[in-house]
Amino acid sequence: MTFTPKTFRIKSFGCQMNVYDGERISELLTEQGLAASIDGEDSDLVVLNTCHIREKAAEKAYSDIGRLKREDGSRPMIALAGCVAQAEGAEAMNRSPMIDLVVGPQAYHRLPEMLARASRGAHPVDTDMPAISKFDALPKRRRANPSAFLSVQEGCDKFCTYCVVPYTRGAEISRPQADIVAEAQALVEAGAREIVLLGQNVNAWKHDELGLADLIRAIATIDGLERIRYTTSHPADMTDALIAAHGEVEKLMPYLHLPVQSGSNRILKAMNRSHGTESYLRTIEKARAARADIAISGDFIVGFPGETEEDFEATLNIVDAVRYASAYSFKYSARPGTPAAAMEDQVPIEVMDDRLQRLHARIAGHQLAFNRSTAGRQTKVLLERRGRLPGQMIGRSPWLQSVHVETDAGPGTMLDVTLTQAGPNSMTGATRQEQAA
Ligand code: SAH
Ligand code: SF4
Ligand code: F3S
Repeated sequence: MTFTPKTFRIKSFGCQMNVYDGERISELLTEQGLAASIDGEDSDLVVLNTCHIREKAAEKAYSDIGRLKREDGSRPMIALAGCVAQAEGAEAMNRSPMIDLVVGPQAYHRLPEMLARASRGAHPVDTDMPAISKFDALPKRRRANPSAFLSVQEGCDKFCTYCVVPYTRGAEISRPQADIVAEAQALVEAGAREIVLLGQNVNAWKHDELGLADLIRAIATIDGLERIRYTTSHPADMTDALIAAHGEVEKLMPYLHLPVQSGSNRILKAMNRSHGTESYLRTIEKARAARADIAISGDFIVGFPGETEEDFEATLNIVDAVRYASAYSFKYSARPGTPAAAMEDQVPIEVMDDRLQRLHARIAGHQLAFNRSTAGRQTKVLLERRGRLPGQMIGRSPWLQSVHVETDAGPGTMLDVTLTQAGPNSMTGATRQEQAA
């Protein structure tokens, strides 16, 4: 491929950290003079910011590449980024010769130079995890959504036996507090009202003796910032200081995403999760003591190798014990190179399908119950985007529920709302004026 791209498009898959990386790549390319193409329009360069967490996610990268060929046989320049890029490196180009360059999640600040080389027909690959952090090399934040993501911690040292993240994102590193506060300040100046602190193990954030609770308190002093959230937390790193912050820092939202993965201690051990169900439930209890209305969310894997019906029932039991406000559940996917992929007793797909369905139903019941428990409350909703109906906006409650509300106010508005109706996946809200009318 020998041409210099002038327009670009980024497609991000996977977790919020990938969304964050996608935004930063976009800012970097814009600074280089490239223009972001409008949704649906053709572009000279496509960046596929991929996810490797489950087989389906990883395969999606390749099926998407195939679809980039244009009717006349030409194609855009294709950059493979994200966790598939990190996991497969140069091998990705053997699987799909349409890929022009491969760049890992810790190396994308080098994209401008790589694009120049790709424009001359080379096929650069960079999956380094350089000592000089990408964060120091990226341009200052100038654009922000009302709710903006901010990566504060990357990588993972936990090595759960099913998971690729320690291999695709490398060892745990925490960014310095001063850098994070400066970025948060820039995001607020660019229009953010809420900041979501991100990390694969965000509550393991640690810098100069400071922990995440200190970081949250520092960010809470920023004028104009109204809300703080953080995700994803590991149960073993849930400190008393962080739990206390939920009771004391007004800007910290009453929401905690704390994945347990399974309700069976035998399976948790095989997963190398470093927490048991008892300690997990104690943490939830403490969080509720600090902030009675805190919404608890989680992640589950069904069909981990060796999972019996009894183990699975223990998972259903922990769902009942916690009464999740929301939760994600996934069928176990064997990932190349992880210890669990080589374990005996892989669970048949039909069994996984059945368990996933039962788990979904159990979680949905608690989610609806939680939504109903908030109906009638007066609260604030941060408007994020327009809804499908005319005059309708969609925003988030403090408990991260989607709230549909009729209003003339635009994105970024913090609206006083009464939650009038609870649905399985969202709430309806009414503004005070509307109620008075
Ligand atoms: N660091 C976070 C999770 C990151 S991955 C944590 O420890 O909770 C997001 C979720 O994907 C995990 O919580 C897990 O539920 C799921 N997941 C990870 N690897 C998986 C695999 N091999 N198969 C199925 N689900 C998986
Ligand atoms: Fe993966 Fe476990 Fe690390 Fe989470 S804590 S990213 S599940 S290895
Ligand atoms: Fe996927 Fe990488 Fe995130 S594997 S879940 S994009 S850290």
